[in-house]
Amino acid sequence: MDVLTPWLGALHTRHVAPYRPQEFTRALRALSARYVERRSELAGRSALDSAGKRSAFAAFYAPLHYLTIREIVRALPEVAREVAHITDLGCGTGVGAAAWQDARENSRPRVQVVGIDQNQWALDEAKWNWQQLGVDGRAKRADLIAEIPPAHPARPAPPAPPALLLAWSINELPRHAQAQLLPLLIAFARERGHVLIVEPLARGAAPWWDGWASAFTKIGGRADEWKFRVELPPMLKELSARAGFQRDYLGARSMWAVPATGR
Ligand SMILES: C[S@@+](CC[C@H](N)C(=O)[O-])C[C@H]1O[C@@H](n2cnc3c(N)ncnc32)[C@H](O)[C@@H]1O
Repeated sequence: MDVLTPWLGALHTRHVAPYRPQEFTRALRALSARYVERRSELAGRSALDSAGKRSAFAAFYAPLHYLTIREIVRALPEVAREVAHITDLGCGTGVGAAAWQDARENSRPRVQVVGIDQNQWALDEAKWNWQQLGVDGRAKRADLIAEIPPAHPARPAPPAPPALLLAWSINELPRHAQAQLLPLLIAFARERGHVLIVEPLARGAAPWWDGWASAFTKIGGRADEWKFRVELPPMLKELSARAGFQRDYLGARSMWAVPATGR
């Protein structure tokens, strides 16, 4: 079933239509500048600090993230599509786990999702998106570091391993939190389940990437750079053209690892 077209239509009504076209474009450009030119400030000041930027995120970047994550999960080994439970850390508007579910066979049972974010607006949007996209999700407001499940759970591991997803969120953490996060993720990926990290292709955007990638490959994981040439849905094409963005492909880099028994 095509969930994307009705979802994009509903996003347009909710977030694009209330603005005059120039207003929306201005907000989209301002948000883009925050992510590209003033990325280093993200740990101290949320990019989602005005209604226009929040709408631009929800209606433009979030669907792009959805499409990109869906392509990444499709491109990874089959086992990546066998997850039954996803904790989405820094879930924003909740699209990452929805995309991961969409990349799986329709015949599989729905995944159970827990979305963690510190931003209440994002969590409310996530709940709305999950309803639109048929995701069984629960939202929790918290600092993502505190929400990493232990590598050795008290209960026996479920038959399909759980997954942690961190998409475009690690960059927003202060350096000391990033340093704290890596060993927790490595322990989880060795003992418990999948860890999938997604960040922008731009080299300067994730200066920590190479060190993390070598830690992931050491435990049998992988790091990839992706350029997916997919036809964008008309709404995203139009918003992109209006803002003057050059967007010939969906680009991202990812890291993924799963315990040796699950490979
Ligand atoms: C660029 S958005 C990405 C959202 C989503 N993962 C996606 O792919 O669209 C980054 C998100 O991380 C959240 N975030 C940043 N630092 C966080 C923290 N310490 N704990 C929880 N969430 C955090 C922000 O509130 C924001 O919603």
